[in-house]
Amino acid sequence: MYTIDFAREEITDLIEGAFKPHNLPIRIDMPSAQLGADFAVPIFELAKQRGERPDVLAQVMADELSQIITANFSVITAKGGFVNFTLDKERFASNVVEEHCASGDAYGSSDEGSGRTIVIDYSAPNIAKPFSVGHLRSTVIGQALHNIFSFLGYTVVGDNHIGDWGTQFGKLMAAYKHWGNRDVVNANPIKELLELYVQFGKEAKIDPGLNDEGRAWFKRLEDGDPEAVELWKWFGELSWIEFTRVYELLGVSFDETLGESFYNDKLAGIVQHALDSGVAVWDNVQQSDLEAAEDIPTTQAPAIQSGAATKAVIIPAATLSAGLPEKERFEKPALIQKSDGASLYITRDLATIEYRTERWNPEQIIYVVGGEQQLYFRELFRAAKLLGFTAHCVHTWFGMVRLPEGKMSTREGRVIFLDDVLAESISKASALLEGRDMGEDEKLRIAHTIGVGAIKYGDLSQNRTRDIVFDWKRMLSMDGDSAPYLQYAYVRIQSILRKTEVPDMKHIRGRALVHDAEHALVKKIALFPDSVRKAAAQHLPHVIANYAFELAQVFSTFYTNVQILKTESIVLRATRIYLCMMTAEVLKRALGLLGIDCPEQM
Ligand code: ARG
Repeated sequence: MYTIDFAREEITDLIEGAFKPHNLPIRIDMPSAQLGADFAVPIFELAKQRGERPDVLAQVMADELSQIITANFSVITAKGGFVNFTLDKERFASNVVEEHCASGDAYGSSDEGSGRTIVIDYSAPNIAKPFSVGHLRSTVIGQALHNIFSFLGYTVVGDNHIGDWGTQFGKLMAAYKHWGNRDVVNANPIKELLELYVQFGKEAKIDPGLNDEGRAWFKRLEDGDPEAVELWKWFGELSWIEFTRVYELLGVSFDETLGESFYNDKLAGIVQHALDSGVAVWDNVQQSDLEAAEDIPTTQAPAIQSGAATKAVIIPAATLSAGLPEKERFEKPALIQKSDGASLYITRDLATIEYRTERWNPEQIIYVVGGEQQLYFRELFRAAKLLGFTAHCVHTWFGMVRLPEGKMSTREGRVIFLDDVLAESISKASALLEGRDMGEDEKLRIAHTIGVGAIKYGDLSQNRTRDIVFDWKRMLSMDGDSAPYLQYAYVRIQSILRKTEVPDMKHIRGRALVHDAEHALVKKIALFPDSVRKAAAQHLPHVIANYAFELAQVFSTFYTNVQILKTESIVLRATRIYLCMMTAEVLKRALGLLGIDCPEQM
């Protein structure tokens, strides 16, 4: 427990002790600074329960609680239907400083996750396809959640579920055999492979026979035909060169990279189990439904003209929907195996759930995947449940990425190339450093930190369910809600600290911090653990991003209003310097949890 938790706990104890509400959770708000009080407790429900007027009861409560000597509060008052609590600033500051001294680097962390495991499925780009901005979002959000849960003591397994299997590889091979050329592909792998794939789609509309060719190639791959396997491996290697570069640039890594193909030998068992348990059946399905299910499903998947019926193993819509409320029912069956024995995306995901459960016994499996797969994940989780896989699975989805029109140069269809985005951000970041007194290497390094940070923060500072816009001006602004602004705030504190000696611990007294601007800053620092816990509980990294921004703002007010280096009293000066140190550390930690580095100068 942190100081702030003790304060809240005392409020609850005080109210429960004196007023015995029946089964009423006590809500504790933190009103904005202008209201004077630090905490406000609405007592409307309690008043109702007791048949009293809220404002009258609030007054009675405030009067009564004021008689009690408390550990945390100096004033308790009533306002309307609220009881307001004001912290004893000196004691509070002294506790916060003490707990920060005692926990050092671990400040804000906890052991709530000890003995508990979480699997996070994130990034998951597809072989032979570009690493899209959607995968960038997944990577950035997934990495942040990984950091956050680890900080709270969980054992976290980050698993990159690479899309390296499926009938699309058959199509790609067929396309390559028709129109491809090894040197051309080697020269520009991802763009060329994508083009071949797109060309295949177009030509197959004219000549549907191509689809059979694609299927035949995939069958060859599944049967281990050397040529097919060689091609598949080659596509994989080409893609890995690209993915590795992106991950290095972003500073991201994984604990496991078990692609879809890893589950190949487990699929027959899954399908058999589904049939044996009566969850799945062989049935006629429309060829069109089969084809729609071949690619990774999105709710916007284009409707394909229906063709002949064919046999497949399905979990019927009625089975999926059994016992569900009307609006959660499924309209379509889940296809888990085609007539030729080929598996589908969902089959591999079912095997993945079983595997993860057996290997790690996680209390949660978190899927950081775009919102367009919401229906798919509902279906997957439902099917998993019917098959008796007990894992608690959560689809932590995110919105789409948009570009302000005309800003981006390389666009091909709906694909935005990540390289261009990162390169553009880094080059804009170096423009910010124009004229700074530093070596070229240093400048490059810092531009990288700022450019990558700006992209990550642009994403993580907004609720993940919102669509985001690559608004360079906002993302790279030095005085707005942006990574560079926060990095600069950190650098500025570091430069203050460089101008002075490290304060002697024996001079540090939290209780010297009584100025309003100091109190606001101490309180903000005290709230850091809250923001970490909330971000974890709701899978919302933006809670920490917003926290960091507010911390920087509160610091800025403090800095404008309070003398630091020129303070005469040794104790006050040392303590204020320590307050700067705490701010810098918490800021750096908050950004670090988001996967954003802080340069030491910029
Ligand atoms: N490769 C998929 C895509 O690009 C994402 C995979 C997400 N993870 C999963 N277990 N289905 O859309």
